[in-house]
Amino acid sequence: MIDIKNVSKWYGNFQVLTDCSTSVKKGDVVVVCGPSGSGKSTLIKTVNGLEPFQKGEITVDGISVGDPKTNLSKLRARIGMVFQNFELFPHLTIRQNLTLGQIKVLGRSEEEATAKGLKYLERVGLLSQQDKFPGQLSGGQQQRVAIARALSMDPIAMLFDEPTSALDPEMINEVLDVMVGLAQEGMTMMVVTHEMGFARRVANHIIFMDKGIIVENCTKDEFFGTTRSDRARDFLAKIIH
Ligand SMILES: Nc1ncnc2c1ncn2[C@@H]1O[C@H](COP(=O)(O)OP(=O)(O)OP(=O)(O)O)[C@@H](O)[C@H]1O
Ligand SMILES: [Mg+2]
Repeated sequence: MIDIKNVSKWYGNFQVLTDCSTSVKKGDVVVVCGPSGSGKSTLIKTVNGLEPFQKGEITVDGISVGDPKTNLSKLRARIGMVFQNFELFPHLTIRQNLTLGQIKVLGRSEEEATAKGLKYLERVGLLSQQDKFPGQLSGGQQQRVAIARALSMDPIAMLFDEPTSALDPEMINEVLDVMVGLAQEGMTMMVVTHEMGFARRVANHIIFMDKGIIVENCTKDEFFGTTRSDRARDFLAKIIH
């Protein structure tokens, strides 16, 4: 589904990604972790063309992301992305947040978009909140709306960039539960997170990055087992208390 081959990227003289390769099969859940500044966000943003790269190749469902002929907005519409800070439209109600992209980008009728949006809002347990504005919801609720909004676009894969790291601890699980459900239903997911409980439960693969390099790319059993690199071991020791 997602194929990343020998991708390198520079910001000016600074190399942020060095020869990164990995592939994500349909239905796989890949967790990306590593220290701050190691290039995790940059890597997943290259997958839907939010960040250009200078070397290598990325294909999503057979479509080349780096090919100038590729219609990136069309591709992006098919890949759901959920960020740390929810990025809901503050001046629109929850229902309008859910339908806007479907209507503007996918050309759905308001009726169809509303039906689909509310189906996913119900799925994340927030149907009763549809007439509120984002500012009237908690962080965990806003993030669940952001996930419902992404799902309403019928994505072929979902990218998450630290979806729970801006949340108060008691709200983390309500978001992770939604993500675990998605994973168990077979959604293809790339998830930047340091929630190792989530990784243990649903990840097929774990990528550990350091200084723009994919240092580890292995199964979770290997990752949590004994074969990992010193750098990954040090990192894990710091985040698992
Ligand atoms: N627009 C930019 N211009 C220049 N350098 C950038 C830019 N965006 C990111 N960087 C640098 O690239 C490196 C990787 O950043 P990135 O955001 O991908 O790291 P990260 O692993 O997601 O970190 P964090 O855990 O803090 O989110 C960092 O050193 C960062 O300072
Ligand atoms: Mg980041």
